[in-house]
Amino acid sequence: MDARVESSRGSGPAERASAPGHDPYHHLHDEAYAAPFAAGRVGWRDMLAMAGRRAESLDGVWNFVLDLHDEGLRQRWYEDAPAPIAGWTAPRDHDDGDWQTTTVPSCWNVARPEWTYFEGGAWYTRSFGHEPRLPGERTFLRIGAANYEARVFLNGVFVGAHRGGSTPFFIELGGHLVRGANRLQIQVDNRRRPERVPMNHTDWFNYGGLYREVGLVRVPGIFIRDFGVALVPGSHGRRIAIDVALSAPIDGVVEVAIGGLAEAIAVPVAAGAGRVEITAAPELWSPANPRLYEVEARFGDDRLHDRVGFREISVAGQRILLNGEDIFLRGVCVHEDDVATGKATSEADIRRRFADAKALNANFLRLSHYPHHELAAKIADEEGLLLWQEVPVYWAIDFANPDTFADADNQLREMIRRDRNRASVIIWGVGNENADTDERLAFMSGLAASCREMDPTRLVSAACLINREHFRIEDRLSEALDIIGLNEYFGWYEPSLDGLKQLFANSDLDKPLIITETGADAVAGHAGAPGELFGETHQSELFGKQLDLVADAPYVRGFCPWILYDFRTERRQTALQRGYNLKGLIAADKATRKKAFATLSERYSELAQQQKPAGASPAKADQNACKAAPDGHDPRGG
Ligand code: GCU
Repeated sequence: MDARVESSRGSGPAERASAPGHDPYHHLHDEAYAAPFAAGRVGWRDMLAMAGRRAESLDGVWNFVLDLHDEGLRQRWYEDAPAPIAGWTAPRDHDDGDWQTTTVPSCWNVARPEWTYFEGGAWYTRSFGHEPRLPGERTFLRIGAANYEARVFLNGVFVGAHRGGSTPFFIELGGHLVRGANRLQIQVDNRRRPERVPMNHTDWFNYGGLYREVGLVRVPGIFIRDFGVALVPGSHGRRIAIDVALSAPIDGVVEVAIGGLAEAIAVPVAAGAGRVEITAAPELWSPANPRLYEVEARFGDDRLHDRVGFREISVAGQRILLNGEDIFLRGVCVHEDDVATGKATSEADIRRRFADAKALNANFLRLSHYPHHELAAKIADEEGLLLWQEVPVYWAIDFANPDTFADADNQLREMIRRDRNRASVIIWGVGNENADTDERLAFMSGLAASCREMDPTRLVSAACLINREHFRIEDRLSEALDIIGLNEYFGWYEPSLDGLKQLFANSDLDKPLIITETGADAVAGHAGAPGELFGETHQSELFGKQLDLVADAPYVRGFCPWILYDFRTERRQTALQRGYNLKGLIAADKATRKKAFATLSERYSELAQQQKPAGASPAKADQNACKAAPDGHDPRGG
C-alpha cells in the first residue's frame, strides 16, 4: 500500500514550516483532515487465513497518549522524527519520549480512572526490529481488533486504516519496512457516531483501544489467502467441499490433507481460486461428540493447519436440525465484558464463560452483540457448544446510508471469513431490535444475502420485532431469515406474562423461532419478595414461567436468556445499577450466582432429559433428540 497522504517523512514542524509555501497554521482550518485516511481503509478482501500461522507478537508495553481532537492527524505527528524537547527547533504538541504507557492488548477505559469515559482518539507507538528471512516474503501487520477506527503509520508513513470494532484486519507493511528498527504508530478512535455500526446509542459500554492481539505475519510471495472446508449441505454427511483462494490470480494446485479421512486431496486452482468436493463419511461433530479433524493445506512454502469439525445445521419446517436431528437450543447470551479488563478477553475468561454455560446445562450461546474473540469459537469447537455470532447492527442504525451498509457488510464478511471453519458457529445474526422501515428491510436483507453468498453452510437470523397492532410475531425481515429471533421482556419491561401467552396464541410460524433475549434485573444477594423488581426471586420465577409458556409454542426451538453476567453500561444509573445492567444470572464478579442460575439449570436439565432417548446422557440428548424431523424426513438418508 502506498501512502494516500503526501508524506514529508522524518521532518518536523520547523522543517515543514520552512518549506516554500507551507502554511504552519493550515491544520487549524482543515476539517477534512480525516478524509485522506479513508482511502487507505482495508477490509475483508485483505484478510489472510490464519489457521496455524504464527504471528510475531507486538503485544506488551507501548507509548500511549490521548488525543481527543485528533491533533495527531491534523498536525501529522506521525511525520515528526522523534526528538527530545531540547533538540526541537520549533514547538510540538506531543512528545514521543515522554508519553504515558499502556499495555496492548487492553482497553484504555480500565487503565486509569481518569480515562474511564474517554471517547476520542488515542495514539499507540512502539518500535520493533525487523530482519528479512525469506526472499520474496511479505509482511503484514495483524490487529485482532481495535475499537472503533484505526489508522496505521510505519516509519512516518500512513500505511492503512480500518473501521469496525470487533474484527481482525491486516495491513501489508511492504516497502515501508526497514531492516533494523521500525517505528509503528496506531491511532485508535472509539467515538460513537450515528452513521457507524453500532451507532452512538447502545446498551453496552463503549470500550476503546487495541484490545486484542497485535502481531506481524510473514507469508511467502504467493500464499493461501482464504481456505474453507465443510460438509456440503444436503449431502447427508457424505460430501466435503474444500475451497481455496490464493493471493495472486495464478494457476496451480493446493494440496489438502484431512487426517484419518483423506490424506492427499488435490485442489486445482485457476486464476487464484479453486474448489473440489470429495466423498467421505466423517464422524460428525456435535455437542455430545465434538470430533475435530486435523486439516492441513499446502501451497509452495505456505502451510495452513486447522482443527475442523464436520456437521450440518439446517431447518425443516419449524425444526432446527443438527446432523439431521431435531435440537432445542438451551442457550444464554453473553457480552465481552469484564470488571477488570473491559472488552479485552483471555482464554481463561472464555473457558470460564463456557464452564458456566455447561453448569447451566446449556448447549448454545449467543455471543452478543458483535463478533467475539476468535478463541471463543475455537474453544467452543473443542467443548461442543453451539454459537450464534452477530454484527452490531443494533437499534437505530443509519439504514438509509450506503456507507453505513458498507461498514456493516464489511464487518459481517470479516466475521465470516475469520470463523468460517468453526463447527460451533451455526448461526450468523444480522441485527438486533431494529425498527421496521423499508430502509431497514433492504439493509438487513442485504446482509442476509451476504451471509448466504459468503457461507451457504450456516443459518441466518436476527432479533426481530412483533406486530403490535395485531399482537403477533410478524416481521417483514423474516422472509430473508432461516430462523426468527425474538427479544421479549414479558415479566419485566412488559410486566404481565399474559402478553407472551397472547402473542404465542396469535402467532403461527412456518420456520423456527429462538427467544433471543428475555430476563430481568436482579441485585445479587437481594432475594426480594415474589414479584419485587430487582429481586433475585422475581428474576428466578420469571424464567420458570417463561419456559412453561414456551412449551406451548411448537415453533419455539431455542431459549436464550439475557444474560450470563452483569455487565457495564453507561446508560443505567439508578441507585441499584450504578452503570451496570443487572440481568446477569451471575454477578459481574463472574462468581456470585443468583437464584435464577439454579432455576434455569434445573429446567435445562429437564429439557435435555425430555429430548434424550432412554439411557442416553443429558448431553447425548442433543444428539438424539429426535431421530428424524417430525415430517419423517431424515436428511441423513437411510
Ligand atoms: C435489549 C438489547 C440488549 C439490552 C437488553 C436490556 O433487548 O438487545 O442489548 O441489554 O434489551 O434491556 O437489558
